[in-house]
Amino acid sequence: MTIPITPSTSLCALIGHPVSHSFSPLMHNAAFQEVNADFVYLAFDIKEEDLEKSIKAVPALGIRGLNVTIPHKVSVMKFLDELDPVAKEIGAVNTIVNENGKLKGYNTDGLGALMALQTEGINLEDKKVVMLGAGGSARAIAFYIASEAQELVILNRTESKAIELAESLKYKKEVNVKALKLNLDNLKMELNDKNIILINSTSVGMHPNENETLVTSDLLKNDMVVFDIVYNPIETRLLKEAKSAGAKAIDGVGMLVYQGAAAFELWTGKRAPADLMKSIVEKELLKREKRRRREKK
Ligand code: ATR
Repeated sequence: MTIPITPSTSLCALIGHPVSHSFSPLMHNAAFQEVNADFVYLAFDIKEEDLEKSIKAVPALGIRGLNVTIPHKVSVMKFLDELDPVAKEIGAVNTIVNENGKLKGYNTDGLGALMALQTEGINLEDKKVVMLGAGGSARAIAFYIASEAQELVILNRTESKAIELAESLKYKKEVNVKALKLNLDNLKMELNDKNIILINSTSVGMHPNENETLVTSDLLKNDMVVFDIVYNPIETRLLKEAKSAGAKAIDGVGMLVYQGAAAFELWTGKRAPADLMKSIVEKELLKREKRRRREKK
Protein backbone atom coordinates (compact mmCIF):
# COMPACT_ATOMS: atom_id res chain seq x y z
CA MET A 1 0.00 0.00 0.00
CA THR A 2 1.40 3.41 -0.93
CA ILE A 3 0.10 6.53 0.68
CA PRO A 4 1.19 9.64 -1.22
CA ILE A 5 2.37 11.93 1.55
CA THR A 6 2.51 15.59 0.56
CA PRO A 7 3.26 18.82 2.46
CA SER A 8 -0.49 19.23 2.99
CA THR A 9 -1.19 15.69 4.28
CA SER A 10 -3.17 15.73 7.54
CA LEU A 11 -2.07 13.55 10.42
CA CYS A 12 -4.30 11.44 12.67
CA ALA A 13 -2.91 9.11 15.29
CA LEU A 14 -3.64 6.67 18.06
CA ILE A 15 -2.29 7.38 21.53
CA GLY A 16 -2.18 4.68 24.17
CA HIS A 17 0.15 2.37 26.02
CA PRO A 18 0.82 -0.17 24.60
CA VAL A 19 -0.25 0.37 20.97
CA SER A 20 1.89 -2.17 19.15
CA HIS A 21 -0.99 -4.62 18.48
CA SER A 22 -3.49 -2.02 17.32
CA PHE A 23 -5.46 -2.54 14.10
CA SER A 24 -6.23 1.16 13.74
CA PRO A 25 -3.26 2.24 11.57
CA LEU A 26 -3.97 -0.52 9.05
CA MET A 27 -7.70 0.14 9.03
CA HIS A 28 -7.54 3.94 8.78
CA ASN A 29 -4.73 4.20 6.24
CA ALA A 30 -6.58 1.79 3.92
CA ALA A 31 -9.76 3.82 4.42
CA PHE A 32 -8.04 7.18 3.72
CA GLN A 33 -6.64 5.76 0.53
CA GLU A 34 -9.96 4.28 -0.53
CA VAL A 35 -11.79 7.65 -0.38
CA ASN A 36 -8.80 9.72 -1.60
CA ALA A 37 -8.47 11.59 1.68
CA ASP A 38 -5.07 13.28 2.03
CA PHE A 39 -4.54 11.84 5.50
CA VAL A 40 -2.13 9.49 7.21
CA TYR A 41 -2.52 7.59 10.51
CA LEU A 42 0.24 6.64 12.96
CA ALA A 43 0.36 5.08 16.42
CA PHE A 44 2.16 6.76 19.33
CA ASP A 45 3.05 4.86 22.47
CA ILE A 46 2.52 7.49 25.17
CA LYS A 47 3.18 6.89 28.85
CA GLU A 48 0.94 8.49 31.47
CA GLU A 49 3.60 11.05 32.44
CA ASP A 50 3.89 12.23 28.82
CA LEU A 51 0.16 12.53 28.15
CA GLU A 52 -0.24 16.25 28.91
CA LYS A 53 2.79 17.24 26.81
CA SER A 54 1.55 15.09 23.95
CA ILE A 55 -1.93 16.59 23.94
CA LYS A 56 -0.53 20.13 24.14
CA ALA A 57 1.53 19.39 21.02
CA VAL A 58 -1.56 18.48 18.97
CA PRO A 59 -2.66 22.08 18.09
CA ALA A 60 0.97 23.19 17.81
CA LEU A 61 1.71 20.49 15.23
CA GLY A 62 -1.64 20.86 13.50
CA ILE A 63 -2.52 17.20 14.07
CA ARG A 64 -6.12 16.77 12.86
CA GLY A 65 -7.27 14.08 15.23
CA LEU A 66 -6.50 11.34 17.68
CA ASN A 67 -7.89 8.04 18.82
CA VAL A 68 -7.33 7.39 22.49
CA THR A 69 -7.00 3.96 24.00
CA ILE A 70 -6.01 2.29 27.26
CA PRO A 71 -4.94 3.75 29.69
CA HIS A 72 -5.72 7.35 28.65
CA LYS A 73 -9.46 7.36 27.85
CA VAL A 74 -10.42 9.04 31.12
CA SER A 75 -7.28 10.98 32.04
CA VAL A 76 -7.09 12.71 28.65
CA MET A 77 -10.39 14.56 29.25
CA LYS A 78 -8.88 17.20 31.52
CA PHE A 79 -6.55 18.37 28.74
CA LEU A 80 -9.32 19.03 26.18
CA ASP A 81 -11.12 22.31 25.41
CA GLU A 82 -14.55 20.80 24.91
CA LEU A 83 -16.42 17.53 25.35
CA ASP A 84 -19.21 16.15 23.22
CA PRO A 85 -22.26 15.59 25.52
CA VAL A 86 -22.14 11.80 24.93
CA ALA A 87 -18.46 11.60 25.91
CA LYS A 88 -19.24 13.70 28.98
CA GLU A 89 -22.05 11.36 30.03
CA ILE A 90 -19.93 8.27 29.45
CA GLY A 91 -16.96 9.83 31.24
CA ALA A 92 -14.40 8.68 28.67
CA VAL A 93 -13.04 9.85 25.32
CA ASN A 94 -11.81 7.65 22.46
CA THR A 95 -11.66 10.27 19.70
CA ILE A 96 -10.32 13.84 19.59
CA VAL A 97 -10.86 16.36 16.81
CA ASN A 98 -8.69 19.45 16.42
CA GLU A 99 -10.93 22.27 15.17
CA ASN A 100 -8.70 25.28 14.50
CA GLY A 101 -6.56 24.65 17.54
CA LYS A 102 -9.44 23.71 19.89
CA LEU A 103 -9.55 20.08 20.95
CA LYS A 104 -12.95 18.39 21.27
CA GLY A 105 -13.39 14.93 22.77
CA TYR A 106 -15.90 12.34 21.56
CA ASN A 107 -16.73 8.75 22.43
CA THR A 108 -17.63 6.58 19.43
CA ASP A 109 -17.46 3.17 21.19
CA GLY A 110 -21.17 2.98 22.04
CA LEU A 111 -22.23 4.11 18.59
CA GLY A 112 -19.86 1.46 17.20
CA ALA A 113 -21.64 -1.23 19.21
CA LEU A 114 -25.10 0.00 18.20
CA MET A 115 -24.08 0.09 14.52
CA ALA A 116 -22.60 -3.42 14.80
CA LEU A 117 -25.99 -4.68 16.04
CA GLN A 118 -28.01 -2.67 13.54
CA THR A 119 -26.01 -3.82 10.52
CA GLU A 120 -26.80 -7.38 11.58
CA GLY A 121 -30.47 -6.45 11.49
CA ILE A 122 -30.89 -6.40 15.27
CA ASN A 123 -33.57 -4.08 16.56
CA LEU A 124 -33.37 -3.28 20.27
CA GLU A 125 -36.90 -2.01 20.61
CA ASP A 126 -39.07 -4.27 22.81
CA LYS A 127 -35.99 -6.33 23.68
CA LYS A 128 -34.43 -7.22 27.00
CA VAL A 129 -30.67 -6.68 26.95
CA VAL A 130 -28.49 -8.51 29.46
CA MET A 131 -25.07 -6.90 29.60
CA LEU A 132 -22.05 -8.47 31.28
CA GLY A 133 -19.55 -5.92 32.60
CA ALA A 134 -19.58 -2.35 33.88
CA GLY A 135 -16.13 -1.09 32.83
CA GLY A 136 -15.25 1.57 30.26
CA SER A 137 -16.59 -0.31 27.23
CA ALA A 138 -19.75 -1.34 29.04
CA ARG A 139 -20.44 2.27 30.05
CA ALA A 140 -20.08 3.49 26.47
CA ILE A 141 -22.41 0.76 25.19
CA ALA A 142 -24.96 1.19 27.98
CA PHE A 143 -25.41 4.90 27.24
CA TYR A 144 -26.38 4.04 23.67
CA ILE A 145 -28.57 1.03 24.20
CA ALA A 146 -30.33 1.91 27.44
CA SER A 147 -32.87 4.20 25.81
CA GLU A 148 -33.35 1.94 22.77
CA ALA A 149 -34.05 -1.34 24.57
CA GLN A 150 -37.13 -2.16 26.60
CA GLU A 151 -35.07 -3.34 29.56
CA LEU A 152 -31.37 -3.37 30.41
CA VAL A 153 -29.87 -5.65 33.05
CA ILE A 154 -26.23 -5.01 33.97
CA LEU A 155 -24.39 -7.88 35.60
CA ASN A 156 -20.87 -7.25 36.89
CA ARG A 157 -18.36 -9.14 39.02
CA THR A 158 -17.97 -6.02 41.15
CA GLU A 159 -21.60 -5.29 41.94
CA SER A 160 -21.00 -1.70 43.07
CA LYS A 161 -19.80 -0.74 39.58
CA ALA A 162 -22.94 -2.19 38.01
CA ILE A 163 -25.08 -0.19 40.46
CA GLU A 164 -23.12 2.98 39.77
CA LEU A 165 -23.57 2.56 36.00
CA ALA A 166 -27.29 1.85 36.37
CA GLU A 167 -27.68 4.96 38.55
CA SER A 168 -25.92 7.14 36.02
CA LEU A 169 -28.34 5.96 33.31
CA LYS A 170 -31.47 6.64 35.30
CA TYR A 171 -31.61 10.36 34.54
CA LYS A 172 -33.04 9.31 31.18
CA LYS A 173 -36.62 8.79 32.27
CA GLU A 174 -37.49 6.26 29.61
CA VAL A 175 -34.76 3.91 30.78
CA ASN A 176 -35.63 0.66 32.54
CA VAL A 177 -32.35 -0.52 34.06
CA LYS A 178 -31.35 -2.97 36.78
CA ALA A 179 -27.94 -3.86 38.27
CA LEU A 180 -26.92 -7.20 39.76
CA LYS A 181 -23.85 -9.11 40.81
CA LEU A 182 -22.54 -11.39 38.09
CA ASN A 183 -22.99 -14.95 39.36
CA LEU A 184 -24.58 -18.13 38.08
CA ASP A 185 -27.88 -17.69 39.94
CA ASN A 186 -28.44 -14.16 38.63
CA LEU A 187 -27.42 -15.19 35.13
CA LYS A 188 -29.86 -18.10 35.20
CA MET A 189 -32.65 -15.86 36.43
CA GLU A 190 -32.06 -13.07 33.90
CA LEU A 191 -31.48 -15.31 30.88
CA ASN A 192 -34.66 -17.23 31.53
CA ASP A 193 -36.75 -15.03 29.20
CA LYS A 194 -37.53 -15.04 25.49
CA ASN A 195 -35.64 -13.15 22.72
CA ILE A 196 -32.83 -11.85 24.89
CA ILE A 197 -29.88 -9.88 23.58
CA LEU A 198 -26.84 -10.93 25.60
CA ILE A 199 -23.78 -8.67 25.38
CA ASN A 200 -20.38 -9.58 26.76
CA SER A 201 -18.73 -6.22 27.34
CA THR A 202 -15.93 -7.63 29.50
CA SER A 203 -12.53 -8.79 28.31
CA VAL A 204 -13.27 -12.41 29.30
CA GLY A 205 -12.47 -14.78 26.42
CA MET A 206 -9.87 -12.51 24.86
CA HIS A 207 -6.53 -13.90 23.69
CA PRO A 208 -4.58 -15.41 25.45
CA ASN A 209 -7.53 -16.62 27.59
CA GLU A 210 -9.58 -18.07 24.74
CA ASN A 211 -10.96 -20.84 26.93
CA GLU A 212 -12.73 -18.51 29.32
CA THR A 213 -16.42 -17.66 29.22
CA LEU A 214 -18.81 -16.11 31.73
CA VAL A 215 -21.92 -17.97 30.56
CA THR A 216 -22.30 -21.72 30.82
CA SER A 217 -23.47 -23.26 27.54
CA ASP A 218 -26.71 -24.64 29.06
CA LEU A 219 -27.96 -21.05 29.47
CA LEU A 220 -27.67 -20.24 25.76
CA LYS A 221 -30.82 -20.68 23.65
CA ASN A 222 -31.75 -20.50 19.99
CA ASP A 223 -33.92 -17.38 20.33
CA MET A 224 -31.01 -15.30 21.68
CA VAL A 225 -28.72 -12.81 20.03
CA VAL A 226 -25.25 -13.07 21.57
CA PHE A 227 -22.91 -10.16 20.94
CA ASP A 228 -19.31 -10.37 22.18
CA ILE A 229 -17.24 -7.17 22.05
CA VAL A 230 -14.06 -9.27 22.14
CA TYR A 231 -12.64 -9.48 18.59
CA ASN A 232 -9.42 -11.37 19.21
CA PRO A 233 -10.13 -14.25 18.59
CA ILE A 234 -12.95 -13.40 16.18
CA GLU A 235 -14.97 -16.36 17.40
CA THR A 236 -14.76 -16.49 21.18
CA ARG A 237 -15.80 -19.52 23.20
CA LEU A 238 -19.04 -17.70 24.10
CA LEU A 239 -19.85 -17.18 20.41
CA LYS A 240 -18.93 -20.75 19.50
CA GLU A 241 -21.27 -22.07 22.18
CA ALA A 242 -23.97 -19.58 21.19
CA LYS A 243 -23.83 -20.83 17.61
CA SER A 244 -24.02 -24.45 18.77
CA ALA A 245 -27.14 -23.54 20.73
CA GLY A 246 -28.65 -22.10 17.55
CA ALA A 247 -28.39 -18.47 18.69
CA LYS A 248 -27.37 -15.58 16.46
CA ALA A 249 -23.71 -14.77 17.21
CA ILE A 250 -22.21 -11.34 16.53
CA ASP A 251 -18.48 -10.84 16.94
CA GLY A 252 -16.55 -7.76 18.10
CA VAL A 253 -15.07 -6.81 14.72
CA GLY A 254 -18.13 -4.74 13.82
CA MET A 255 -17.83 -2.59 16.95
CA LEU A 256 -14.12 -2.03 16.32
CA VAL A 257 -14.81 -1.03 12.73
CA TYR A 258 -17.82 1.20 13.38
CA GLN A 259 -16.20 3.11 16.26
CA GLY A 260 -13.30 3.71 13.85
CA ALA A 261 -15.65 4.67 11.02
CA ALA A 262 -17.35 7.27 13.24
CA ALA A 263 -13.95 8.77 14.16
CA PHE A 264 -12.92 8.74 10.48
CA GLU A 265 -16.04 10.71 9.57
CA LEU A 266 -15.40 13.28 12.32
CA TRP A 267 -11.85 13.91 11.05
CA THR A 268 -12.37 13.80 7.29
CA GLY A 269 -16.01 14.83 6.82
CA LYS A 270 -16.21 11.93 4.35
CA ARG A 271 -18.24 8.75 4.59
CA ALA A 272 -16.09 5.92 5.94
CA PRO A 273 -15.70 2.82 3.73
CA ALA A 274 -16.84 0.54 6.57
CA ASP A 275 -17.03 -2.65 4.48
CA LEU A 276 -13.43 -2.25 3.36
CA MET A 277 -12.32 -1.47 6.93
CA LYS A 278 -14.08 -4.61 8.13
CA SER A 279 -12.47 -6.86 5.57
CA ILE A 280 -9.01 -5.41 6.31
CA VAL A 281 -9.43 -6.05 10.05
CA GLU A 282 -10.82 -9.57 9.52
CA LYS A 283 -7.98 -10.49 7.20
CA GLU A 284 -5.37 -9.23 9.67
CA LEU A 285 -7.05 -11.02 12.60
CA LEU A 286 -7.12 -14.32 10.70
CA LYS A 287 -3.47 -13.84 9.73
CA ARG A 288 -2.52 -13.31 13.38
CA GLU A 289 -4.61 -16.30 14.52
CA LYS A 290 -2.90 -18.50 11.91
CA ARG A 291 0.52 -17.27 13.03
CA ARG A 292 -0.33 -18.05 16.67
CA ARG A 293 -1.45 -21.57 15.75
CA ARG A 294 1.78 -22.13 13.81
CA GLU A 295 3.88 -20.90 16.73
CA LYS A 296 2.00 -23.20 19.15
CA LYS A 297 2.88 -26.30 17.13
P1 ATR B 1 -12.68 -1.83 29.33
O1 ATR B 1 -12.27 -0.39 29.16
O2 ATR B 1 -12.13 -2.73 28.27
O3 ATR B 1 -14.14 -1.98 29.50
P2 ATR B 1 -12.31 -2.09 32.17
O4 ATR B 1 -12.88 -0.73 32.35
O5 ATR B 1 -11.09 -2.47 32.92
O6 ATR B 1 -11.95 -2.35 30.65
O7 ATR B 1 -13.49 -3.14 32.46
C1 ATR B 1 -13.31 -4.53 32.38
C2 ATR B 1 -14.66 -5.22 32.67
O8 ATR B 1 -14.45 -6.63 32.55
C3 ATR B 1 -15.18 -5.00 34.08
O9 ATR B 1 -16.58 -5.03 34.07
C4 ATR B 1 -14.62 -6.21 34.84
O10 ATR B 1 -15.32 -6.54 36.03
P3 ATR B 1 -14.94 -5.81 37.42
O11 ATR B 1 -15.59 -4.46 37.34
O12 ATR B 1 -15.50 -6.68 38.46
O13 ATR B 1 -13.44 -5.74 37.47
C5 ATR B 1 -14.81 -7.27 33.79
N1 ATR B 1 -13.94 -8.44 33.99
C6 ATR B 1 -12.63 -8.55 33.69
N2 ATR B 1 -12.16 -9.79 34.00
C7 ATR B 1 -13.22 -10.48 34.52
C8 ATR B 1 -13.40 -11.81 35.01
N3 ATR B 1 -12.39 -12.70 35.03
N4 ATR B 1 -14.63 -12.15 35.44
C9 ATR B 1 -15.65 -11.29 35.40
N5 ATR B 1 -15.56 -10.01 34.94
C10 ATR B 1 -14.36 -9.62 34.51
